[in-house]
Amino acid sequence: MRPAVCATAAGTPGPPTAAALPRSCVGCRRRRPPCALCVATAVPARRSEGPGGGPNSRAGRSPWPAAGILEAMSEFPEAARASLPRAVTPGSQASHGTYQAQPVSFVRRGTRLQGRRERAWQEYEKTYAIDVPRHVADTSVHPDFVFAAEDTFGRRAPLIVEIGSGLGDAVVFAAEQNPDKDFLAVEVYLPGLAQTLLKVASRGLTNVRVVQANAPEVLSTMLPAGSVSEVWVFFPDPWHKTKHNKRRMVKETFAPLVSRVLQPGGLWRLATDWSDYARQMREVLSTSEDFANVHDGERIGADSPLTQARTTAGDCDRSDEPDTEGGWAPRFAGRILTGFENKAQLAGRTVFDLTFRRL
Ligand SMILES: C[S@@+](CC[C@H](N)C(=O)[O-])C[C@H]1O[C@@H](n2cnc3c(N)ncnc32)[C@H](O)[C@@H]1O
Repeated sequence: MRPAVCATAAGTPGPPTAAALPRSCVGCRRRRPPCALCVATAVPARRSEGPGGGPNSRAGRSPWPAAGILEAMSEFPEAARASLPRAVTPGSQASHGTYQAQPVSFVRRGTRLQGRRERAWQEYEKTYAIDVPRHVADTSVHPDFVFAAEDTFGRRAPLIVEIGSGLGDAVVFAAEQNPDKDFLAVEVYLPGLAQTLLKVASRGLTNVRVVQANAPEVLSTMLPAGSVSEVWVFFPDPWHKTKHNKRRMVKETFAPLVSRVLQPGGLWRLATDWSDYARQMREVLSTSEDFANVHDGERIGADSPLTQARTTAGDCDRSDEPDTEGGWAPRFAGRILTGFENKAQLAGRTVFDLTFRRL
């Protein structure tokens, strides 16, 4: 397949015209994602001011949608990619096109803030949002940046990290219930974070911070090793089509990242409403040498939510085959019912909980 490069990148003199550009490429046109070659050359140049700038600052903001950048780069043929300039830190998202050469687990939806959310972000960003030095994408984390929880919260307390916090319902509820613990909400969706800040501020909570960032980068470099008491991943995007499964967040390469930040004895709590993803989560964590299932062997046969999903055909083919492995946790009492879980229940899907302990 012809690599999607724009007229500029292909050596045509003068600025590219719209007609000369491949559909997925824009070169210098801002409205559409740039071509792979333009990304590789233009973005590091735009970052010449070095790392810096908060989630909403101009210095830290890419002019293009991150998903477009990442998709363009991940589609670019390996051979051509090898010859591209690499004015970026080895090992970072920028050097790989995606984090560790893997597709990201999100697609950027409308990132523009409006109305109450815009006002909330303007008013509370400085207080509650971690000012992350960026690298290439506006959801990337510069690999040199390390989060100092004690300085941020002004105390030493157990730190709970929620990955993919959505509109913040779970993290805000938990923070209110547990004033003796600190919470970090990790989310790429800016309107969701702004909504979270509205809730945090209206309740006067001091034990919550948010960060707009790609979770694997937060886990691999931003959080110090062994600094977290619990990691929560509730209802991650299921990417249920087989061809999209590779975008799922919880997979073999993600488990070591969670393992890295958890202190020994720390907990990884997960929930999903997709039976196939639930099985994948159980498989990934059960085969990891770093984790033990807190509910190993529990909820087998008719008690298993997997058996129930099969017999009701909620989201899978109907089958009478019982789940003989089990290992499902009871519903985590610290998790409030979010809009996502509510929708899943209304659609007749079974909810699966898992809890694993870091060894
Ligand atoms: C299906 S929603 C669930 C939200 C929330 N946990 C709930 O139960 O309401 C999944 C969320 O994960 C976020 N997400 C997906 N991949 C992410 C990543 N790599 N880093 C941070 N957030 C991510 C998405 O933006 C989305 O808001």
